[in-house]
Amino acid sequence: MIDQPTIDRILDAANIVDVVSEFVTLRRRGVNYVGLCPFHADKSPSFYVSPAKNICKCFACGEGGTAVHFIMKHEQLSYFDALRYLAKKYNIEIKERELTDREKQIKSDRESMLIVNGWAQEYFSNILYNHQDGKIGMRYFVERGFREDTIKKFQLGFSLDQRDALYQAAIRSGYKKEFLEKTGLVIKYDNGNVNDRFRGRVMFPVHTLSGKVVAFGGRVLKKDEKTAKYVNSPESEIYHKSNELYGIFFAKQAIVKADCCFLVEGYTDVISMHQAGIENVVASSGTALTQGQIRLIHRFTNNITVLYDGDAPGIKAALRGINLLLDAGMHVKVLLLPDGEDPDSFARKHNATEFSEFIKAHETDFIRFKTHLLLEDAGDDPIKRSELISDIIRTIALVPDNIARSLYIRECSVMMEIDEQVVLNEVNKLRLNRSEKENPSTPSLLGEPTSMPEYPDFPGYQPAVDESFADSNPLAPSADIPVPPPPPPVPEEEMTAQQQPVQPIIAIQSRLEHSPFEPFELSLLRYIVRYGECILYQYVDEATNEEKIIRVAEFIRSELENDELTMKTPLFRKMMEEASDLCKTTGFVASRYFLSNPDLEESHLAADLISDKYQLSKYHSKNCQLEKDEDHLEQLVVHDIYALKEAYVMQQIKDVQEKLKQVQTSDDIEVTLDLMKQLTHLNEIKSAFSKELGERIILKM
Ligand code: CTP
Ligand code: MN
Repeated sequence: MIDQPTIDRILDAANIVDVVSEFVTLRRRGVNYVGLCPFHADKSPSFYVSPAKNICKCFACGEGGTAVHFIMKHEQLSYFDALRYLAKKYNIEIKERELTDREKQIKSDRESMLIVNGWAQEYFSNILYNHQDGKIGMRYFVERGFREDTIKKFQLGFSLDQRDALYQAAIRSGYKKEFLEKTGLVIKYDNGNVNDRFRGRVMFPVHTLSGKVVAFGGRVLKKDEKTAKYVNSPESEIYHKSNELYGIFFAKQAIVKADCCFLVEGYTDVISMHQAGIENVVASSGTALTQGQIRLIHRFTNNITVLYDGDAPGIKAALRGINLLLDAGMHVKVLLLPDGEDPDSFARKHNATEFSEFIKAHETDFIRFKTHLLLEDAGDDPIKRSELISDIIRTIALVPDNIARSLYIRECSVMMEIDEQVVLNEVNKLRLNRSEKENPSTPSLLGEPTSMPEYPDFPGYQPAVDESFADSNPLAPSADIPVPPPPPPVPEEEMTAQQQPVQPIIAIQSRLEHSPFEPFELSLLRYIVRYGECILYQYVDEATNEEKIIRVAEFIRSELENDELTMKTPLFRKMMEEASDLCKTTGFVASRYFLSNPDLEESHLAADLISDKYQLSKYHSKNCQLEKDEDHLEQLVVHDIYALKEAYVMQQIKDVQEKLKQVQTSDDIEVTLDLMKQLTHLNEIKSAFSKELGERIILKM
């Protein structure tokens, strides 16, 4: 047991950013850091680290806490083992008090298994280097072209071709049979016999992300039809094959550095590529990728290139499992090696520069690759073609990023010679269906079912906007009062056909030319698209004794019209009017309506607004209780209406000030006084709004 002063010293030393960043790539955001959550399938950063509070938290899955909590969860350690881990990291000497017998006994199985595996790894290596029979193994590695430093680095070894050599050695060294069995190093038979699992094989230890040996793979030396090429450790308390990737421990830093990960099939592919100087590589060990493995890669990078043999099965394999990667929001590329080569053989023939150049020249975007491949395959066969088209559409529908998805839709519709609109509709239909299946209680919402925006309680926290979206989206809302002057008003009669509102052509232009009110209008439109049909107020009108129901879409419209305002952006106005006209219709769901709208502009914009999952509620309660937009719809909507109105007033103030400057030169007292009055009046309104907004905004950037 660790004594208390030592515990305190460890807790003081453990810097949360330091601890977390060993496993998660963190980026600075304001006073905090963010990264992909290692505890759930995070598509974009929800994991926050606050250096000020020395804690971390995922705002999607809720996992987190102090550095000790993080290590406990991440490394699957007990409280005291997590402290030991941190003590080692910070070079703090541990003063342990003597364990009681009982405490000794309950030391976890897990730990014992890891210890046994650690011992076994050294045992196998020792045989490789020092045992007479180890020479056979060494010769095998050398013949394969593995260098000595490579063999050391990957802790390769050799198992003797004897019935129970390892078992006997382990028992002699004081290891319990129980843990030899649990790790699968030995196999116990019903008749009581105990045999070694690995016999006469070269040994590849499998390391976790933090470098612990959880399993082994043993390869036969000769091509032998009778025995399996590889024998692997069985699943156990410490080894869940679907959550491990071979090579991740040795690759993690290189993956971060390159911001890309290569995925290959086998142990030898990883090792040969490392040896050739390409270290950002992991293997799925001959099985289809799993969610857990993807998560492991995704915390270090968004970009993955799948390397496969150039033969037919290699290509088929490349197609499998990749949908999972796309679904996780990864950018996937495929590299087919020349016929007859695998990454291992290719790496042995080329140095890092040549290999990298080959990759650069030959890797193709996965969806493009798949479309080409299938098109070729289908030829002119109409049935095959239609199957192919649905297949591609299913794949495209998985891409979470809106912009990337629209680009794929555009490109693939050209390749497949189908109308883009048709592809878009199909993709939207699939996405909508999927979100309904995943999230039956909120049928209208696309995107993350479990990670509804919530609000961190960190000082200086800024709402996280999906950057890939915000950077390239001119419509992304901003909290600043807009500065550019409005375009000169055009009298209705003088409007050219092009300028007439609600014309589709204007709708398209609306994405290009920006009214200064656009950000404010857009945030209102967000509520209309997401919650347009939701009831905002419900009351009995005392005069008529009638029940009144006011829904989000109609409320926003009438609030604006009361002040003789409307949305200046034609597309937005059109959508607001449609929603407010339709929202009383039974069964109307705004999000569904807009997403499946045949007007491309509308459905694109709706998809953006709906899947922009990082638009966070402006509300959070003081006790760190995290809350959702829906819980505060009324305040949020009213707030944003005020914000738009305030923007109008600010604009008017500017106009009046402009006019004042002009009249002063012509010395017209009457006009000046009148303008001054207007200015005072507008300033009063403005401060009223500011007060409202100030009271309603708890956090403002
Ligand atoms: N594999 C396995 N059991 C087998 C065959 C393969 O577990 N019987 C796994 C191993 O993890 C292997 C990977 O699938 O690394 C890829 O298989 P393969 O390409 O056949 O093996 P390599 O490791 O590439 O071995 P080599 O290059 O020596 O053929
Ligand atoms: Mn291979």
